[in-house]
Amino acid sequence: MRIAVLNGPNLNLLGSREPEVYGKATLAELESLVRAEAGHLKVELAWSQTNHEGAFVDLVQGLKGTADGALINAAAFTHTSLAIRDALLAVQVPFVEVHLSNIFAREAERRHSRLADLAVGVVAGFGPEGYLLGLRGLVNRLRAR
Ligand code: DQA
Repeated sequence: MRIAVLNGPNLNLLGSREPEVYGKATLAELESLVRAEAGHLKVELAWSQTNHEGAFVDLVQGLKGTADGALINAAAFTHTSLAIRDALLAVQVPFVEVHLSNIFAREAERRHSRLADLAVGVVAGFGPEGYLLGLRGLVNRLRAR
C-alpha cells in the first residue's frame, strides 16, 4: 500500500514557527516519526512539502495511480483553496486531513476547511501525533475495503 503525505505552506518552518501553536518538532523530525509508523504498518510512504498552491495542485493530481491514499495538511490552503478542492474531487484518492493545531479552536477564518467534507476523516489538535493517528486511521480504512 502506498501512502502520500502532502504538506502545505510554511510547514517547512516547523520547529521555529510559532512553537507555542505548532510545537518544537521540525518537519524532518515529523517525517521521521511518520516514516517509522509507516514501517510498523508496512506501507510505502512518499513525503512532500510545498509553499506553492499550483505545486500543491500538481501533487494532488499526481496521486492518481501512484498512491492508494493520502494524508494531507494543506496548511493555510485548507481554508482558501478551491483549486486544491477541485483537484481532490478530480483524483478521488481517499485522504485524511490533518492539522497540528486544533483549527476549530482558533480564529474564525481557520475554523472552516474547504477540504474536510471530501476527507475520510479529520485529525486536528494533537500535534505530530495527529499524523500518526491519521495514518493509522487511513490505512485501517483502506485495508477494510
Ligand atoms: C495548520 C493550521 C492552519 O490554519 C495553518 O495555516 C497552518 C498549519 C496546522 O497544522 O495546524 O499553516 O494546518
